[in-house]
Amino acid sequence: MTAEKEWIKDLVVYQIYPRSFCDSNGDGVGDLPGVLQKIGYLEELGVNAIWLSPVYRSPNDDNGYDISGYQEIMEEFGTMEDWDRLRDACHQRGIRLIMDLVVNHSSDEHPWFVESQSSKGNPKSDYYIWRDPVDGHEPNNWASVFGGSAWEYVPARGQYYFHYFSKKQPDLNWACLQLREEVYRMMEWWADKGVDGFRVDAISYLDKPQDFPPSSLPPLPDGYSFPEGLAGRPGTHAYIREMNRRVYAPRNVLTVGEVSAPTVEELANYVRTGREEFDMAIPFVPPMVEIDTWSPEKLARDAWESYRALEKDGWWARFLSNHDKPRQVSLYGDDGPYWEASAKLLALFLHCLPGTPFIYQGEEIGMTNVKLPSIQAYDDLDTRNRYHQLLLSGSSPDAALARAQLESRDNARTPVQWDGSPKGGFTTGQPWLGVNPNTKRINVEAQRQDPLSIFHFYRRLIALRKECPALPHGDLAFLDTGCGELVAWRRRAGDETLLVFCNFSQEAHTIPPGLLEGAGEALLSSYDREGGYQGPALRPYEAALFRARI
Ligand code: NOJ
Ligand code: CA
Repeated sequence: MTAEKEWIKDLVVYQIYPRSFCDSNGDGVGDLPGVLQKIGYLEELGVNAIWLSPVYRSPNDDNGYDISGYQEIMEEFGTMEDWDRLRDACHQRGIRLIMDLVVNHSSDEHPWFVESQSSKGNPKSDYYIWRDPVDGHEPNNWASVFGGSAWEYVPARGQYYFHYFSKKQPDLNWACLQLREEVYRMMEWWADKGVDGFRVDAISYLDKPQDFPPSSLPPLPDGYSFPEGLAGRPGTHAYIREMNRRVYAPRNVLTVGEVSAPTVEELANYVRTGREEFDMAIPFVPPMVEIDTWSPEKLARDAWESYRALEKDGWWARFLSNHDKPRQVSLYGDDGPYWEASAKLLALFLHCLPGTPFIYQGEEIGMTNVKLPSIQAYDDLDTRNRYHQLLLSGSSPDAALARAQLESRDNARTPVQWDGSPKGGFTTGQPWLGVNPNTKRINVEAQRQDPLSIFHFYRRLIALRKECPALPHGDLAFLDTGCGELVAWRRRAGDETLLVFCNFSQEAHTIPPGLLEGAGEALLSSYDREGGYQGPALRPYEAALFRARI
C-alpha cells in the first residue's frame, strides 16, 4: 500500500448482498433504490464504506457472479441512474463505494461468449479457453467448483470450453491481450465514474497451465478431481500487477482481492506493498472446511500469523462473515441461549484486531443460520451440488440435508430482517428466498430501540475506532491465558494500550491475574446488558475491552 492510500486504514466496510438487502418495488428481490432507502441506517451504524456484491447485468446462475454486461445494471436491481444516485448519496455522507468485480469468468450469456462459441475463426474466438476433445472426451479430469467436469462441449466449435465455476461461468482467457485490454478499459470506465474501490472476485485463477495436465488428486464422488496448483501461479500475479499498474495505481482506489491462499505466505504475496498487487486480500476457505477445522485457538493463530506476515508492509481485511459463509453467530458463537453475548463477542473480536473490519449485512443485528425444510428450498447452486455429492458418496438424504443446513451459503442470503412482520419488512411481495422466521425476535426495528442491543454494540465499537487510535493503528501481541477458549491480546499505539479478552465457550473462564495488571477501565463488555464486566471470571461468551494509559 502506498502512502496516499493511508485512508483505507480508517475504513469500516459494510458488505451489501443487494438481492437480499431491501426490496423497493415489491417484486421480492432487493434492489439499488432499496439500498438508497437504507443509506441513513448505514450512516447511523457508522460505517464509512459499502461493498456492493455484483449489480451488473446477469442471468443470475450464481446471483450476479456471472456477468453478462459489465457496463450495465441488472434489470431487477434498477438502472444506471439508480446507481449514480446511490454513488452520490454515499459520497455526500462520506461513504466510499466499493464495487465487486468478476473477471476470472463471465456469464455464458455475455456477448463475448455468444460470439466466441459461434465458430472457431470469429474475432472473439480467443476470449475464452477452448480445447479439442481428447479421445472423444473432455480435455482432462478437472472438476468444477460447483460440480461435474470443468469442461463443457459446444457442437458449433467441436470443442470444449473451460469453466472453473458453473458451466454458465466460462473462464475468460487472460492469455489473450485483446481480452485483457477490454477488461482494463471496463475497469477504468467504472473507476472514472467515481468508484472508490474494487473487490476482485476469484482472482487467484487467472493464469492456467496451457497444457492442462490431468490432476492426480483423489476424485470427488462424481469422478472428477480438483486441479493441482491452479491458484496463485506466477502468471496470475503478473496479470494482477499489470491490472494494478494500468487501472489502480494512477487512481488511488482501494483494491481487495478475493484469493485462494492456503498459507499466510501465499496470502502475503497478493498484498505486500512492494508486490504492487492489492491493498488487502480476502482469503476464501470453503465452509465445509471452516466448520470442521475452526477453533478459538485457530482463529487467534491465523490472526497472529497474518499479522506477522504483513506487519511491516501490508494491511489486512478482517471478516468473519460474507455471502459465501454460514452466519457467524451460528458458526463461531451460539445462536441459542448465548446468542446476544456471543454476537457481541464476535464483533469485539473482529474490530479489535489490526486491519479493516468488514461487516456483512445482518451481522450487526446477530442474524442466524436458517434451517430450510428441503433441498428444493435452497437456491444456491453450491449447496445443491454439495448435497448431490454427499448422496453419491453414500449419505442418507436426511444427513445430506442436515449438512446443507449447516454449510449453505443461503444461510447468509436470507433477506435482511428489518422488522418483526412475517416478511421482515424486506418486501411487500414474495421474497426470492425465505425470510428467517426468527425475524419476529431478531430485527433492526427492535434493536434500534434497545440501547443495549447488538446493533448499538456495533455502533459503539465503530465509534471507538475514532477515540482509540490503537484500534486501527496499534501493534498486536497475543497473551498466554493458559486456556485455548480464552483468547487475549494487547494493542498499543503511542501511550495507549488496549487489552482484549474473549471467552469463546459456554463455561466461565478466569483471566489470569497477571494479565490484568494496569488494565485500566473496561470500555466495553459483551455483558453490557448485565451491568458490564465484573471479572476476573468471564461468563460464557463474555468479551471485554480495557484501555490503559501507561
Ligand atoms: C467467489 C464469490 O464470492 C462467490 O459467491 C462466487 O460463487 C464465486 N467467487 C464465483 O464467482
Ligand atoms: Ca425489487
